[in-house]
Amino acid sequence: MGRLTYVEKLVCSRCDATYEPEENPILCKRRDFGRLDIIYDYNAISNRVARANLKSRDVRDIWRYAELLPVSQKFSVRLGEGGTPLLQSKRLGEKLGVRNLFLKDETRNPSASFKDRAMSVGLAKAVELGKQDVVIASSGNAAASLASYSAAAGIRCHAFVPHDASKAKIAQLLLYGADVRRCKQVKEGEDPTVQMMISTVDKFGYYPCPSFGPFNPYQVEGPKTIVYELYEQQNWEQIDLIFIPTGSGCLLTGIWKGVQDLKKLGFIASYPRLVAVQPEGNSALVRAVNEGLDFNQIVSEPYPASIASGLLDPYPWDGDAGMLGIRSTGGSGISVSDEEIMTAVKDLAACEGIFSEPSGAAGLAGFKKMNANGLINKNDNVIVLVSGSGLKEIDKMIGAYPEPALIEP
Ligand SMILES: Cc1ncc(COP(=O)(O)O)c(C=O)c1O
Ligand SMILES: [Zn+2]
Repeated sequence: MGRLTYVEKLVCSRCDATYEPEENPILCKRRDFGRLDIIYDYNAISNRVARANLKSRDVRDIWRYAELLPVSQKFSVRLGEGGTPLLQSKRLGEKLGVRNLFLKDETRNPSASFKDRAMSVGLAKAVELGKQDVVIASSGNAAASLASYSAAAGIRCHAFVPHDASKAKIAQLLLYGADVRRCKQVKEGEDPTVQMMISTVDKFGYYPCPSFGPFNPYQVEGPKTIVYELYEQQNWEQIDLIFIPTGSGCLLTGIWKGVQDLKKLGFIASYPRLVAVQPEGNSALVRAVNEGLDFNQIVSEPYPASIASGLLDPYPWDGDAGMLGIRSTGGSGISVSDEEIMTAVKDLAACEGIFSEPSGAAGLAGFKKMNANGLINKNDNVIVLVSGSGLKEIDKMIGAYPEPALIEP
């Protein structure tokens, strides 16, 4: 393959400090919570990647786009991440009066959420660096994902999750063999899982791999592959809108990075509008977008609360890039109630046959709300990301309908 990666340099999003790829930086030396944004050599990439030759590639997982990833695929641990179906909604689209509504079914990833795209890249870097212990702070999905890749690589995974993390996510973690700790929130606006993760990085030298850019820049690049797949699956048609369930803003940032890559390579002419969807009980990023605030004016949500447990990060770690993505594409932010989220869960299941967890269905709830407000053109080409499986939150979902009748046969 010639060169191992096409990374030119890494630049801190807070202080502009620049790093060579050979330095393999993870955190900015200044410890300023900047994300080390990865800059690629697009000239060299365009000598190897063209729309036409992508089509002839047989690889179906995220490594199909190896030149646009920051770690060599020779370090990859592969469980079938990415390559998920893009399903055209028939019944919901018709019901809502939108012709081109597409659902990107990320529930089909190996650990059943889109986080596999991020964690497989982050873990590949850990393999390259010869790390024996990785650590994560997560509401559950990213942790379950990292634990699965760690298990396959024979690396120890330490996970800090909220005290009320879903049973299914904890079961995944335990079965994948992770060392799991549930953490109580003790201070308003502070995420105890993040505090614990940082302390193990400092004390034991563990490799941090949460799905937050400022703590690991490599994993942010994984979700970019959603964008490449979307355009390939739609034969490079113009996409008008992408609805993105948003917590820490890492997925949103990945999508923004992905569309920028394609524009820089000349594969697309214009950006789709990116729409961040957050639950009403944790919507600092959406509020900042709608109130015209700067990222550094965002304060953490003191006590986040929602049925969408994956979207409860009190602080949007990647909100800077996410807000830039929304503003640069003419996108927007929208918040949705738990009731709207649960209705979207039921819609996906009963109208489309897709079983989504509440966090995974928030994008659809946001789309429905914008459509009801008359903000969607009926000819728009709309993508809704369905980011995690309903099997992850069975304890919350089982109460959505009355228990089936028990009969004497
Ligand atoms: C199912 C699901 N969707 C969306 C998100 C939001 O992703 P992010 O934190 O990158 O904004 C998460 C995060 O945990 C999630 O678990
Ligand atoms: Zn810095």
